[in-house]
Amino acid sequence: MARQFFVGGNFKMNGTKESLTSIIDNLNKAELPSNVEVVIAPPAPYLSLAVAENKQKTVFISSQNVFNKASGAYTGEISPQQLKDLGVHWTLTGHSERRTIIKESDEFIAEKTKFALDSGVSVILCIGETLEERQGGITLEVTARQLDAVSKIVSDWTNIVVAYEPVWAIGTGLAATAQDAQDTHKGIREHLVKTIGAEQAGKVRILYGGSVNGKNAPDFKDKVDVDGFLVGGASLKPEFVDIIKSRL
Ligand code: G3H
Repeated sequence: MARQFFVGGNFKMNGTKESLTSIIDNLNKAELPSNVEVVIAPPAPYLSLAVAENKQKTVFISSQNVFNKASGAYTGEISPQQLKDLGVHWTLTGHSERRTIIKESDEFIAEKTKFALDSGVSVILCIGETLEERQGGITLEVTARQLDAVSKIVSDWTNIVVAYEPVWAIGTGLAATAQDAQDTHKGIREHLVKTIGAEQAGKVRILYGGSVNGKNAPDFKDKVDVDGFLVGGASLKPEFVDIIKSRL
């Protein structure tokens, strides 16, 4: 069965009530293809606003982060139970900015991923290598390590979407070529075949993220293992709609 094309928009720590309302309004007015799943991740203080403003049936709201406990004395954290209470059914985990700046470990990311899934929140699990690791030729070793931390404790991958985001391509304007992305995605899927089995691995969507924009998105069209995108900067712009429509 074909994997449904998926486009995520990670707004990161950007936006105001006014600008985010206008971005969502722009999405509401667009004629979006009915066969593309779109998930947008505004900053946490604006999750309710996004849920209230979104009128598109194919657009869903995601958190950028989640914690591995339901409630309690965890200052500043957000539980999956609270997300669901707000009408938010997705979360990102493992974004490279949280891995590097907040120093989240593979194991902690895996625990958060598992707890979100067990609580009924779907996960966009971000993985990817640094420039140094790429130059060292260990891209697939790094992505395997990041995935293995999760597959060690999560056996059902139905509600996980993997986002491959090479750190050197994030926010740099230097996207991986479509062929490079395809080669890495193929390697990631082959690894998943070994760890979670061919059936599940064949169904997991693998997104590419890193300097995707309205112009380069169509280049990835015929790449069989690129099942969509996780978009940062361009998700704040009207061209996000072009990316959503890039497979038409
Ligand atoms: O989560 C999104 C990625 O970090 C990509 O960001 O499209 O601004 O390069 P970017």
